[in-house]
Amino acid sequence: MSESQVWDDVDDYFTAHLAQNDDALEAALRDSDAAELPPIAVTPLQGRFLQLLAQIQGARSILEIGTLGGYSTIWMARALPEDGRLISLEYSAKHAEVASRNIARAGLDRIVQVRVGPALESLPKLADENPPPFDLVFIDADKVNNPNYVEWALRLTSAGSLIVVDNVVRGGRVADADSKAPDVLGSRAAVELIGSHPRLSGTAIQTVGGKGHDGFALARVLA
Ligand code: SAH
Ligand code: DHB
Ligand code: MG
Repeated sequence: MSESQVWDDVDDYFTAHLAQNDDALEAALRDSDAAELPPIAVTPLQGRFLQLLAQIQGARSILEIGTLGGYSTIWMARALPEDGRLISLEYSAKHAEVASRNIARAGLDRIVQVRVGPALESLPKLADENPPPFDLVFIDADKVNNPNYVEWALRLTSAGSLIVVDNVVRGGRVADADSKAPDVLGSRAAVELIGSHPRLSGTAIQTVGGKGHDGFALARVLA
């Protein structure tokens, strides 16, 4: 058996016992697929992981950058109290539309707001609203802008907040110091920013399974 087959089998076993999609999550994936969105949502186990992080944070407010069909959004929003808030930023109007339907079907449309546009345009507008600090920021959009998104996350959080960056492994290419690929450069810059920033304490976790060799960077805001 190939190594990646073992990863998939283990992922399937863990998923069956720990993170099965319910009807709303299953429908979100089905409708995302039907609308031909790319199949790059977090896995069910990763969705549960994000949900647990939000719960451990005691999160009341979450910022997501990169909505796609709202699959990760639903997992995280379910960790919020009824008066909680999740703002998700999405470049594609089509993705945002699919996501909004998926989120409404999950009964989360009072908690979740999807804002359409390039995140680097939505973020300054959001900052102008002076929102209370976000307890959790999930960065999962165009990888080249990861360092910019970490900087924005720092402006929109406070001590104790958690910043999570998805897909920092890039199939292992993150370790290639000579890479000129924009996604690798963005992920490396984000990792190095987290490692060198006085307001952040962070780590990165490699994952295997449904999304191949991948991983998250996690950073706690210190001050
Ligand atoms: N968080 C989702 C997956 C997001 S995929 C999940 O796990 O379920 C990445 C998304 O980021 C795509 O929908 C893409 O359209 C969006 N995106 C790409 N560039 C962006 C930008 N500059 N601003 C906001 N969203 C962007
Ligand atoms: C890609 C983006 C993602 O957010 C992800 O989880 C996996 C892959 C991509 O752009 O290839
Ligand atoms: Mg991702």
